[in-house]
Amino acid sequence: MYNPYSLKNKTILVTGASSGIGRQTAIECAKLGANLVITARNEERLQATFDLLEGEEHQMVIADLSHTSQIEALVSALPKLDGFSCNAGIANTEPISFYKEEEIENVFKTNTFSMMMLTKFLVKKKKLNKPSSIVYTASIGNVYSAGVANGIYGASKCAIDGFMRTAAIELASKGIRCNSVNPGMVFTNIVDSNGRITKEQFDEDMKKYPLGRYGKPEDVAYAIVYLLSDAAAWVTGTALKIDGGVTL
Ligand SMILES: NC(=O)c1ccc[n+]([C@@H]2O[C@H](COP(=O)([O-])OP(=O)(O)OC[C@H]3O[C@@H](n4cnc5c(N)ncnc54)[C@H](OP(=O)(O)O)[C@@H]3O)[C@@H](O)[C@H]2O)c1
Repeated sequence: MYNPYSLKNKTILVTGASSGIGRQTAIECAKLGANLVITARNEERLQATFDLLEGEEHQMVIADLSHTSQIEALVSALPKLDGFSCNAGIANTEPISFYKEEEIENVFKTNTFSMMMLTKFLVKKKKLNKPSSIVYTASIGNVYSAGVANGIYGASKCAIDGFMRTAAIELASKGIRCNSVNPGMVFTNIVDSNGRITKEQFDEDMKKYPLGRYGKPEDVAYAIVYLLSDAAAWVTGTALKIDGGVTL
């Protein structure tokens, strides 16, 4: 059946696949025919994703991407890839006067250093086919909008888009396309991970979204699927907002 977004016979790595956007991305990629390698730290939740994948040819690998040695080991164990959804990340909400160096380091190691080192090892160990596609999950936060107490997280996400643009130019001759998605608020575990936000506050914030709601993981997963697919064969260096119109 004709489908320009098909991922049939593509092998795709998804990080952060144990929940939220990464889990949904893995599920949608499998439905479109891809063979997945999924990774995260929590084995039970990663297994739950694995059990939801259509098809037989999938693998799961436990890795903590805040450690470069584990990134290198993960990449060494990978088959050749046609796509990479670079999605693992953690949140942080801290006003500037409360910043701690270790916390900044932890957020940047997980959100930013890991995607640079993953890209480095994938290229160096020749794990990406020609052509292939990398999709980094950035954010609207501090890229297209700014918010109080979002300095550390927002800066870690701005850096993703900055790196993505260089990677798009540097890797184009190898047939590797590099793009990012920039989601607004999407209901996942990352939202209000410390339980400080009330339902009334969420409802009030949601009124800022012209399309009337926060995102669902599949809203972002479908955009990642597009960028991974051959339908996006002429798209590289793009940061794609998926935000219900909130930044308009
Ligand atoms: N939800 C939103 O509103 C929103 C908005 C903009 C951007 N984003 C971005 O979207 C991405 C996915 O977030 P989400 O909303 O789906 O949140 P989530 O449900 O909390 O998922 C985060 C994923 O990252 C993994 N992860 C975290 N630290 C890791 C580490 N050190 N090593 C390996 N894996 C790690 C987690 O798995 P384990 O805990 O099992 O390791 C989990 O699978 C993140 O990059 C986030 O910044 C989210």
